[in-house]
Amino acid sequence: MAFYDNFRLLMIRTMVLAFFLSHCASEKGPNYSFMHEATTAPLVSFYDYIVVGGGTAGIPLATTLSEKFNVLLLERGGSPYGNPNITTIEGFAAPLADLSPSSPSQRFISEDGVINSRGRVLGGGTSINSGFYSRAPVSYVEEVGWDGKLVNESYQWIEEKIIHTPVLRQWQAGFMAGLLEVGVLPFNNVTNDHVVGTKIGGTLFDSNGTRHTSADILEYANPKRLTVLLNANVERILFATKGKSKPATRGVLFRDSEGNLHRAYLKSRKSEVIIMAGALGSPQILLLSGIGPEQHLKSLNISVVLNQPNVGQDMKDNPMNLVFLESPFPVEASLVGVVGVTRSGSYIEATIGTQLNDLFARITDDQRSRRGVFMEKFDGPASTGHLELRNTDPTDNPLVTFNYFQDPDDLRRCVVGMGETIEVIESRAFSRFRLPNLTVTDLLNNVQNTPLNFVPNRSNNYTSLDQFCRDNVLSIFHYHGGCRVGRVVDEDYKVIGVKSLRVVDGSTFNGSPGTNPQATLLMLGRYMGVMIQRERTGNH
Ligand SMILES: Cc1cc2nc3c(=O)[nH]c(=O)nc-3n(C[C@H](O)[C@H](O)[C@H](O)COP(=O)(O)OP(=O)(O)OC[C@H]3O[C@@H](n4cnc5c(N)ncnc54)[C@H](O)[C@@H]3O)c2cc1C
Ligand SMILES: *[C@@H]1O[C@H](CO)[C@@H](O)[C@H](O)[C@H]1NC(C)=O
Ligand SMILES: *[C@@H]1O[C@H](CO)[C@@H](O)[C@H](O)[C@H]1NC(C)=O
Ligand SMILES: *[C@@H]1O[C@H](CO)[C@@H](O)[C@H](O)[C@H]1NC(C)=O
Ligand SMILES: *[C@@H]1O[C@H](CO)[C@@H](O)[C@H](O)[C@H]1NC(C)=O
Ligand SMILES: *[C@@H]1O[C@H](CO)[C@@H](O)[C@H](O)[C@H]1NC(C)=O
Ligand SMILES: *[C@@H]1O[C@H](CO)[C@@H](O)[C@H](O)[C@H]1NC(C)=O
Ligand SMILES: *[C@@H]1O[C@H](CO)[C@@H](O)[C@H](O)[C@H]1NC(C)=O
Ligand SMILES: *[C@@H]1O[C@H](CO)[C@@H](O)[C@H](O)[C@H]1NC(C)=O
Ligand SMILES: *[C@@H]1O[C@H](CO)[C@@H](O)[C@H](O)[C@H]1NC(C)=O
Repeated sequence: MAFYDNFRLLMIRTMVLAFFLSHCASEKGPNYSFMHEATTAPLVSFYDYIVVGGGTAGIPLATTLSEKFNVLLLERGGSPYGNPNITTIEGFAAPLADLSPSSPSQRFISEDGVINSRGRVLGGGTSINSGFYSRAPVSYVEEVGWDGKLVNESYQWIEEKIIHTPVLRQWQAGFMAGLLEVGVLPFNNVTNDHVVGTKIGGTLFDSNGTRHTSADILEYANPKRLTVLLNANVERILFATKGKSKPATRGVLFRDSEGNLHRAYLKSRKSEVIIMAGALGSPQILLLSGIGPEQHLKSLNISVVLNQPNVGQDMKDNPMNLVFLESPFPVEASLVGVVGVTRSGSYIEATIGTQLNDLFARITDDQRSRRGVFMEKFDGPASTGHLELRNTDPTDNPLVTFNYFQDPDDLRRCVVGMGETIEVIESRAFSRFRLPNLTVTDLLNNVQNTPLNFVPNRSNNYTSLDQFCRDNVLSIFHYHGGCRVGRVVDEDYKVIGVKSLRVVDGSTFNGSPGTNPQATLLMLGRYMGVMIQRERTGNH
């Protein structure tokens, strides 16, 4: 019964921690001298750089630019500090289930019927995600054409501040043994690199189970040159168009939580607005500002600043499929620590005991602590979709369609990946975590009993993985595209056809690097901050 005692100890520690967080530390956390509520901001202000979106890429970029310039960082959400739903492993996914307007996560349901989520808090995705950290493959960096040396320096700059090696407790250790037993080789031990085999990756959670979001990167900032405004909702970009060959960016319009509108302007012609509002937010802001397909803008009475048919195109989301696995005994909560990257390109992860389960059905604490989740996803996908505005409300979600499995190769890859996942579950090494009489059909039908999405189901007795993949498709929340490099922005992330405006975030990607985008988005924020400084000071 040693494991059970350990488990109780962990629960007690968790309760003490939760009590401590809710009674002592709440509202505190790092109280950066340069971070304020937008309600306290002047109605008109001027900056060298205005960064829209204090998320994964936005914080490292604004922090880097503050070394030399006056920077304004506008974030529509509040602070992540002091909220145990954000700062602890046990809290993971609680924000995804919180549908209130003050939730740190804004749920959206794609036209495909799949539930998905956007960060709405300082730290963006890093405040609500499952924390797994994996760099892009070297081949990805070469294909994109980034400077490999600066890429590595930027990854390191991030990792030193917020990345940790996960502590492998029994669930991750059993999963790792299962992967090795079925031949997901070689064993790569601890590495942040994306390589074939079984590895222990990086994580935002430290050994105490505390999350370190991108907001911690603000510790690197120059407090004299950076202003961070919370609950500052950017409604549109302001342009000068009269007598110009190209529209020129002048600043942005944002609204505080009391409904007051503020204008932030660029100081000089060398100044820039940088949109970093994520793969839904960035195309949405461009469209609301009059940059997008002319017909679509006109249908909503938005005055056209630039007819740009590619805004909102090339949206992609990696399909994820999962199976639930009930452990015969309770297991301590664990997020992703070990991953299997197979030769066929599948990517297998396993978690247990988190509130991810509660997204699909209400369960008890005991059920949750036995409810394991095995997840399968793959690089890509090949299928693409699109995004457009639903209305002109900047706080509403745009309409987005991902067309999961439209490309037959995506379906083939899911079937291969699910087959490999089932092999790991059936491994001898993992056998103590499953009931002895469990069959594959039980495993698949288990999901069917817990409706996961709004895709009309066509079977309740799965004998084909093909059907299983289609009916139970989910998102691993790695959606990207909408402002792709070469289509909407150039290779320096400058919006094509407009002066003094860039977009730098997941909306510019054509693929999810390393099948886990956060490392590369954090890196890209630092990387582009350095690049912009070099460009401006002529120091290459
Ligand atoms: C539940 C979940 C689990 C995930 N798990 C992992 C994982 O384990 N590993 C991994 O690598 N990736 C994971 N991801 C994906 C990863 O977190 C995201 O791809 C990444 O954080 C996106 O970064 P970004 O900079 O493009 O956007 P974001 O980090 O979303 O930043 C955009 C910011 O802009 C703000 N914003 C938007 N609109 C406005 C506006 N109008 N005005 C002002 N501010 C605005 C938002 O509030 C947000 O803070 C996960 C994502 C989710 C949601
Ligand atoms: C943060 O610091 C400011 C002044 O620097 C102070 O006014 C404010 O009350 C502090 N907030 C918290 C939550 O400690
Ligand atoms: C944490 O999440 C739960 C469930 O979504 C919600 O009810 C609660 O209000 C959240 N707590 C905080 C501090 O946001
Ligand atoms: C960057 O680091 C990776 C290991 O993460 C290494 O394989 C690669 O060669 C490095 N690139 C450069 C240009 O140094
Ligand atoms: C994995 O790395 C750790 C140190 O990070 C080391 O102690 C351990 O022996 C390594 N395991 C193997 C199998 O190489
Ligand atoms: C974990 O918590 C202890 C005690 O609060 C602290 O001393 C230690 O630095 C923490 N570890 C990490 C990795 O933050
Ligand atoms: C656009 O403006 C026209 C004319 O003023 C109006 O009839 C129409 O309803 C408006 N459309 C929208 C979507 O607001
Ligand atoms: C498997 O065994 C457990 C208990 O040993 C039992 O509760 C369950 O109903 C069995 N499941 C099936 C599908 O037979
Ligand atoms: C979906 O599955 C449920 C549960 O098995 C079943 O009750 C329902 O009829 C199915 N719906 C469709 C459209 O097949
Ligand atoms: C499920 O399908 C199998 C094989 O087609 C069949 O033998 C079994 O009776 C079916 N079970 C149910 C509950 O329909």
